Amino acid sequence: MEDASNNEKIIGNDRAVSPVELPEDAKTDLTLRPSALDDFIGQDTLKRQLTTFLSAAKKRNEPIEHTLLYGPPGLGKTTLSHIIAREMGKNIRITSGPAIERVGDLAAILSNLEPGEILFIDEIHRLPKTIEEVLYPAMEDFALDMVIGKGPAARTLRLDIPRFTLVGATTRLSLLSSPLRDRFGATYHLDYYSSGDMQRIIARSAKLLNVPLDESAAAELAARSRRTPRIGNRLLRRCRDYAQVHGDGKLTNVIAMRALDELCVDTMGLDGADRIILEALIAKFRGGPVGIGTLAAATHEEIATLEEVIEPYLMHIGFLERTPRGRVATEAAYKHLGLVPPGGSLV
Ligand SMILES: Nc1ncnc2c1ncn2[C@@H]1O[C@H](COP(=O)(O)OP(=O)(O)OP(=O)(O)O)[C@@H](O)[C@H]1O
Ligand SMILES: [Mg+2]
Repeated sequence: MEDASNNEKIIGNDRAVSPVELPEDAKTDLTLRPSALDDFIGQDTLKRQLTTFLSAAKKRNEPIEHTLLYGPPGLGKTTLSHIIAREMGKNIRITSGPAIERVGDLAAILSNLEPGEILFIDEIHRLPKTIEEVLYPAMEDFALDMVIGKGPAARTLRLDIPRFTLVGATTRLSLLSSPLRDRFGATYHLDYYSSGDMQRIIARSAKLLNVPLDESAAAELAARSRRTPRIGNRLLRRCRDYAQVHGDGKLTNVIAMRALDELCVDTMGLDGADRIILEALIAKFRGGPVGIGTLAAATHEEIATLEEVIEPYLMHIGFLERTPRGRVATEAAYKHLGLVPPGGSLV
């Protein structure tokens, strides 16, 4: 009989350091999500630009232009879209690319909007092509072109819709078609947070959750949170639980280190899944270059999981490079794993 574990995905949906939202995150999300731009920590350039953009629209008493937010998962795109609506004093309607299956779904959403309202489309890169085409005149002319009837008798009917603002979010800008991209008046990129910002985010969350947190414990958590607020908040909750069971509830540096070691999250925020990918790259392909398809097959993973979940952070910390010939493990990755880089020494 075949060993089922052979085919088991190593990058499960319950990794403590998954950047993707887990069911356990939803409960505290409402408490921890900053609701005003002033409470939104980090992303300073983006915040400055957005402040000017929002103030100018408010002064002109006009809805803001369509806005695109992109960046890796868990960095604050959804949070920012809520902040934008709140700062403009408007309602926000939330949907996502895969949720809009038929043209009629989009038509119903758009025709029910009030003037100035924000329509948030998450994962906008997953919008079906036919829907995207209906969105173009809606974004440009605030009109819906509906095709009535079929065959030679078909005709187009143009309906006016309220002047709304589309806020789109995506983790994969390259998958967005250029006609859609061009229709956004403003595009903002969210990047990984600095360790100082991560420390501030974790300290803020600890306060909101009433967790007594030492500054050095905040620094430890910040270092292992992959520069991602969602992961920082999750590790904070896990460490809080550990402190309650194994200590007196106070989150000290020693408790944080023990809790994070128990979760197998190392000092750079890597876990078993990252190590399996890097070790496969090094042991099976001599550090690369190797094509993403080959690497995925060798580790029983899906290409999309590697590209969206694993690679962005490994590239950000300089452990992995994407070259035209494939993926390459860097010297820093060898050293972190305690391995000798080709032609190098381990010091
Ligand atoms: N700048 C920030 N300051 C404080 N907390 C933040 C910040 N950005 C994000 N967070 C926290 O991280 C959590 C995740 O953020 P959010 O859901 O906005 O990410 P996202 O970019 O929309 O992710 P996804 O791509 O998975 O949809 C939020 O619930 C919020 O608590
Ligand atoms: Mg989101």
